[in-house]
Parts: sequence; structure tokens; C-alpha cells
Amino acid sequence: MMNLGEVTYGFYMPRVNLMGAGSAKTVGEQAKKFGKKALIVTDAFLAKNGMADQIVANVVMAGLEAVVYPGAEPNPTDKNVHDGFKALKDNECDVIISLGGGSSHDTAKGIGIIAGNGGSIRDYEGLDKMTQPMMPLIAVNTTAGTASEMTRFCIITNTDTHVKMAIVDWQCTPNISINDPLMMMDMPASLTAATGMDALTHAIEAYVSTQATPVTDASALMAIQLISKNLRQAVANGKNFTARDNMAYAEFLAGMAFNNASLGYVHAMAHQLGGFYNLPHGVCNAILLPHVEEFNLIACPDRFVEIAKALGENISGLTTRDAADVVIASIRQLSKDVGIPSNLTELGVKAEDLKIMAENAMKDACSLTNPRSAKVEDIVKIFQKALVCQYKDMSKITDVSKAAHAHGRHGADGISGIDELSQESA
Ligand SMILES: NC(=O)c1ccc[n+]([C@@H]2O[C@H](COP(=O)([O-])OP(=O)(O)OC[C@H]3O[C@@H](n4cnc5c(N)ncnc54)[C@H](O)[C@@H]3O)[C@@H](O)[C@H]2O)c1
Ligand SMILES: [Fe+2]
Repeated sequence: MMNLGEVTYGFYMPRVNLMGAGSAKTVGEQAKKFGKKALIVTDAFLAKNGMADQIVANVVMAGLEAVVYPGAEPNPTDKNVHDGFKALKDNECDVIISLGGGSSHDTAKGIGIIAGNGGSIRDYEGLDKMTQPMMPLIAVNTTAGTASEMTRFCIITNTDTHVKMAIVDWQCTPNISINDPLMMMDMPASLTAATGMDALTHAIEAYVSTQATPVTDASALMAIQLISKNLRQAVANGKNFTARDNMAYAEFLAGMAFNNASLGYVHAMAHQLGGFYNLPHGVCNAILLPHVEEFNLIACPDRFVEIAKALGENISGLTTRDAADVVIASIRQLSKDVGIPSNLTELGVKAEDLKIMAENAMKDACSLTNPRSAKVEDIVKIFQKALVCQYKDMSKITDVSKAAHAHGRHGADGISGIDELSQESA
């Protein structure tokens, strides 16, 4: 997107990224390049279900020692990081391996940051606060996903304020990322759906970000295409290897996009829901995404046309504005198909918390690159819509297209995916 004045666009990602079936089996050989004793950072479930055992066996076979730290909780906290750092010190580990989804990778990054730089993890909130490299980290990913295994973002909940801190630092990029679809085959449908919608949110927010470049655009559009063609199938049948493999590439491509173009209000707002209520990140994003993008439509309608195409929608003959509307309906249809709840009330979110969460969202680093500037009242309004919107309020995409063709363009009869929203903001 166009910016006036001098701006430098960086492109960050790990130097080595291993993909494909069986790639996780190389973890021990990779770890050998960095140290002799590995701290394997994971969560309580993966520590018990045999996946951590596989990694330990592999690392030991390569001649290293391994200690498991199973303390990465969902929406990991500063306490999880500092407890993990203690485990690292007590066991004199010199390389970190994260195993799991975003929670494990972010906890591991936090531990690595403290190991390399000292102090408290809270000292590193913001952009590029690290002065030293972090301890070497190999990230073995099991969800598709946050892409945390390959990003420079580390999202940690502050246990005093219940706000998720965004640490954005090129020095907390993992040394090696591993995306083995075989590690993702056992994800239950609900986790597949939530993490897949997180990846879609990354791609869409990066594509409409004020920091988007042709490099991030290419990654984002391919990610959107792959998700629209594979997420339903991966949710319907977790053993569908092709769908899993494509979703692994999709979440990685979405990571390439947002790691560099950053995100927008969906993530800024979802971080508040995660911090306040400890809700699943991907589900919060999925519910907020159509509402935030409805707000964003007028900032970059041409970009929404490209998103509609990448989503596989037929927009021939539609005006730009109508084609942009199709995106909103398409996202809602995908969410509905994969079983995402229709609104935040179903997750237990309370109207009285919206104001403070909106204020905090405005301070979140992700809000800086949203294509349309909002006031706190706008964010409150978006939260309010997401609190109550029902799928039954939604027109089918075919209805959107038919109505658009019949009326020539968006009319007072409201042809958006979310009638109530389009009428208010059109
Ligand atoms: N750092 C980043 O770049 C970045 C980006 C987006 C989100 N995040 C953060 O990531 C966190 C969410 O991560 P997540 O959505 O990957 O979930 P998660 O890591 O919290 O895992 C959720 C649950 O899924 C289970 N699980 C993981 N892999 C599994 C598998 N293969 N089979 C069965 N169960 C499995 C875990 O045991 C856990 O119980 C949030 O805190 C979010 O803020 C970070
Ligand atoms: Fe995310």
C-alpha cells in the first residue's frame, strides 16, 4: 500500500524452515548444531499424549540430553515464561525446542529472551527491545495455525493487568521452524477450525495492512486461496493428508505475510478477549473478522476484490463495492461451515467489559497498521456487533451476488453478508 515519505520495509523470517511429512524427525540432528542439552517447551496435553515423547526420543537418539517443561498454558503468561526459565537454568540447558501451537512457541521465545537478555519478560513489550540474541530455538509446530514457529512476535499475558503483551523483535525469530503435517493430523475438528481461522485472519489483516508490500501480498493471497480450498476438508476429516499439508503451507504463508506487514484491529481486539477471559485466540479472531473487515471495506475496496477472488467467490459483473461485500459473507459462511460460534455472547463475553477492552485494543501494537483509523467508540461498536450477531442474520453468498446483479450495486435493501452491519456502515 502507498505511504508518503521514506519508509523501509523489512522482510523477516527464520533462516531455515523445514516442511513436509517426516520433517519433525530431523529435530535432533538440527538441535545438535546449537547445543548439548535441550529444554523441550510444550503444554500439559502434548506432554502426555506421546508427542513430547517422540521429540525426546529423537533428540536423545541424536546424542543430546532432553528435559521437558510442560508449563505453556493457553494464552501463556509471564509466570509460565519465568517458571520455564527456572527449569532451563536448573537443568543447565543450552538449546530450546518448542513443541505445540502458538502457546508453546511464545512461552519458549519468552524463556529464550530472558536467557539471552536477563530481566523480566515485561521489559521486552513493544518493538525491538532486546539487546542480545535469544538462546537458540527450534520450533516444531503442531497447529495450523498461529505461525508463531516462524514469526518475530511473542504474545504473553501480563498476569497483573490481564492484557496480552505484544513483544515484536526480530531477535526472537526462531532459528529453525519445522512444519510437519503428520504432527497436525490428530488435531480435533474444533482446534483445526479455530487455528485455521486464525491463519485466515493473519492473511486478510496483512493483505489490507498499511504496511503491506508486494512480497507480503503474494504470501497473503496464496494463504487465503489454500485456506478457502482446504480448511473445510481438514475439519471434516482430520486424516485428509492433502488438506493438512496444504493448511500447513497456508498458515506458514500467512505467517510470512503478517510477520512483515503486521496485523490490524481483529488481533488488537482478540488480544483483549484472550487476556480478559482466556478464550481461544482463533475463535475470537474468527468472530471479530467479518465485523472489523466490514468497517475496513471503504479504506481499500480494491484489495477486498482481490480477497474475494482468492476466497474462490464468483464476483464477475459485480461493482467493486459489491464484490467487497462478498468477502464478508464468504468469511461468515466459512466460519459457520467449520463450526465457529456466531457471536461473543456464546463465549461468555460481557457488555460491561467492552469499553475497557476497546481502550486497551487501541494501545495494542497490532492496531497501528489497520487500514482505517478508528476511535474508541468505533471499536466499542464493532465489539457490540460481534457480541450479538447471529448466523441467521446473514444472507447466503449466492443471495449477495444475485441481489447485487439484480440491483446493479449495493442498495438500501442491504445485500451484505451481515445486513445490520452493512446498513449502518455503508
Ligand atoms: N507469536 C505469534 O506470532 C502468534 C500469532 C498468533 C497467535 N499467537 C498466540 O498463540 C496462542 C494460540 O496458539 P494456538 O491457537 O496454536 O493454540 P495453543 O498452542 O494454545 O494450543 C491449544 C490446544 O491445542 C492442543 N494441541 C496443539 N497441537 C495439537 C495437536 N496436533 N493435536 C491435538 N491437540 C493439539 C494443545 O495441547 C492445547 O491444549 C495465543 O496465545 C495467541 O495469542 C501467537
Ligand atoms: Fe493470530
